[in-house]
Amino acid sequence: MFNVDEIRADFPILNREVHGKKLVYFDNGATSQTPQVVIDAIVDYYSNYNANIHRGVHTLSQEATDKYEEARLKVQKHFNAKQSYEIILTTGTTHSINIVASGFAALLKEGDEVIVSALEHHSNIVPWQMLCEKTGAILKVIPMDEDGSLRMDVYHELLNAKTKLVFCNHVSNALGTINPIKEIIHAAHKFGAYVLIDGAQAVPHIKPDVQELDVDFYVASAHKMCGPTGVGLLYGKEELLNLLPPYQGGGEMIETVTFEKTTYAGLPHKFEAGTPNICGGIAFGAAIDYMNEIGFENIAKQESELLAYGTEELEKIENLKIYGTTNKASVISFNIEGIHPYDIGSILDKLGVAVRTGHHCAQPIMNFYCIPGTVRASFAFYNTKEEIDVLVASLKRAQMMLS
Ligand code: ALA
Repeated sequence: MFNVDEIRADFPILNREVHGKKLVYFDNGATSQTPQVVIDAIVDYYSNYNANIHRGVHTLSQEATDKYEEARLKVQKHFNAKQSYEIILTTGTTHSINIVASGFAALLKEGDEVIVSALEHHSNIVPWQMLCEKTGAILKVIPMDEDGSLRMDVYHELLNAKTKLVFCNHVSNALGTINPIKEIIHAAHKFGAYVLIDGAQAVPHIKPDVQELDVDFYVASAHKMCGPTGVGLLYGKEELLNLLPPYQGGGEMIETVTFEKTTYAGLPHKFEAGTPNICGGIAFGAAIDYMNEIGFENIAKQESELLAYGTEELEKIENLKIYGTTNKASVISFNIEGIHPYDIGSILDKLGVAVRTGHHCAQPIMNFYCIPGTVRASFAFYNTKEEIDVLVASLKRAQMMLS
């Protein structure tokens, strides 16, 4: 049984006050909060078996290695990858995207085409622009519609024999739009193009099955799904990860090194140069266990209720406009006419309500709507309708003060 009060008790931070008010945390899109079991996993690592992995014969090193590899298996199982070595543990989504983008620099040629969507976070735009600059490939964009959905009709027209790669987020960070990634992947494959899906904003809400999606690369960060910052994953199909050259040279990613020649380690180590975020990886595993214990069906139910209630209540506020009104995750991006989002965010903070304001690292979306930014309230399964009431009351107060 899903009991939100019991779940909230798992998150010590939810008890704190901000400016003398009870914290209402609605910035889950930026980072989720951390349950006690994940905090315990971090403390346990540093208290009991802090050691470098894959290197020492001593007990601590072996314990740390076992736990780290156990975490990789948890990630594999969660995303349903065929092989554990198809899961590369990275520092997060941006790192994962850059591994793929820099790898394809060796494989693309002038005149090849790559497609991104208009709904991307800068981290899923800039690396591909850099790739195009290096290779002479051409960047094409799937445009968006007023309701925050992608123009799939245009996407199908953009695809052709020159298309080599397609990049799209699963869920838009700025608007919450859930994109039709199955259709995107299927259509790209018909032209022999590979697809990378940025799952950073999807993984707190949805449990993706990479085999079922038949996706070529799927990337995400642990800190969006109750894990720590500084760790994430790159899933890639085995044959594609083998095709890509390593991203960074260093320890751990080699098989043999001489001054004449180095041979690289196999997967996943080829992409894991240097000492990784060992504790973070282990805590990521604990976060995956925690979210699965809650259950993604329960998470989806709670969040869709919050989204419906929040939308209904926010729409009652005069001159408030919501951006992104199509099929979406529990994100409400909005503006109040005549008031800068930053000013609203600052007053909300004084009232204990944490939201994100600004362009959300998605300037093309803001340019589309001709706005400098939005206020974004992003809900997690541990949020409540009472907290939404606090947001609404605080917004009315901000509106009164700023109008
Ligand atoms: N990409 C994160 C967000 O949308 C940081 O807030």
